[in-house]
Amino acid sequence: MQVFHSPHDARQFVSRHRASGRTVGLVPTMGALHEGHLSLARCSQQACDMTVATIFVNPTQFGAHEDLDRYPRTLEQDCQALAAENVAAVFVPDNDTIYPDGFSTYVQPPEIAKPLEGVCRPGHFRGVTTIVLKLFQILPASHAFFGQKDYQQWKVIEAMTRDLNVPIQITACPTVREQDGLALSSRNRYLSKEDRQRGLLLYQALRRTQQLAAAGTIDISELEMEMRKVLTAIGQQHAGVDKIDYATVVNAETLAPIDKLDGKAVGLIAAHLGSTRLIDNMLLEINR
Ligand code: PAF
Repeated sequence: MQVFHSPHDARQFVSRHRASGRTVGLVPTMGALHEGHLSLARCSQQACDMTVATIFVNPTQFGAHEDLDRYPRTLEQDCQALAAENVAAVFVPDNDTIYPDGFSTYVQPPEIAKPLEGVCRPGHFRGVTTIVLKLFQILPASHAFFGQKDYQQWKVIEAMTRDLNVPIQITACPTVREQDGLALSSRNRYLSKEDRQRGLLLYQALRRTQQLAAAGTIDISELEMEMRKVLTAIGQQHAGVDKIDYATVVNAETLAPIDKLDGKAVGLIAAHLGSTRLIDNMLLEINR
């Protein structure tokens, strides 16, 4: 596997392969890779002739009080894991390469970035869309792969790509979970044993919502109340999550609020366990 630090060399590599008619799948990451990331590389390998990954902990998508400094950095293991998936190249720029002195141009994120994470993490999607567009410019891939776990991020990137006519096909790959249901996340490694256990409540709340929807509950306030009941562990022996940022069911395409389930909907949760914030989501099937 080739490792590139310079945008020029990375672009040449991808351009050369694209010019010879090959499809190239891009898997952007912030490192600290787990099975979820590797599943993106596998999705890409299936759909494309070759795969290129990126590893860059993007400072502009972290808020002032967020975990940029403690975000796990495991470059050596990450490169080994990508090489084992037959990833052709990885682009690992340093901060000054991406944001040199005088850098001042940012992407204005689309409307779909406004609710949910947009409210809880102001500026987050401005950082995400800016780095993702830069990566798309540096690595002119034909396809790019993101995790459905970051549901709103996927929708934001899809909208940006469409609005700005970026010639790349965006695919979201299914969330990978631990056996007990916890969605894989680089941030899971921060969780104490007790918080890891409580972290399962996000999955359980979403499953409960899915089951209620499948059984015919269509009232959104009822579904959201049930979600909160599970998250706060009302009537249970154990403790609930420490704080809920949101626990909601919205239109799966627009993320707009809805009163009743009809068409495609998604349940989304962001909650805190100690000093760690987890997000998760599930699509809801409506049984009529
Ligand atoms: O999902 C992530 O890991 C990041 O938000 C991304 C897309 C690599 C941009 O930094």
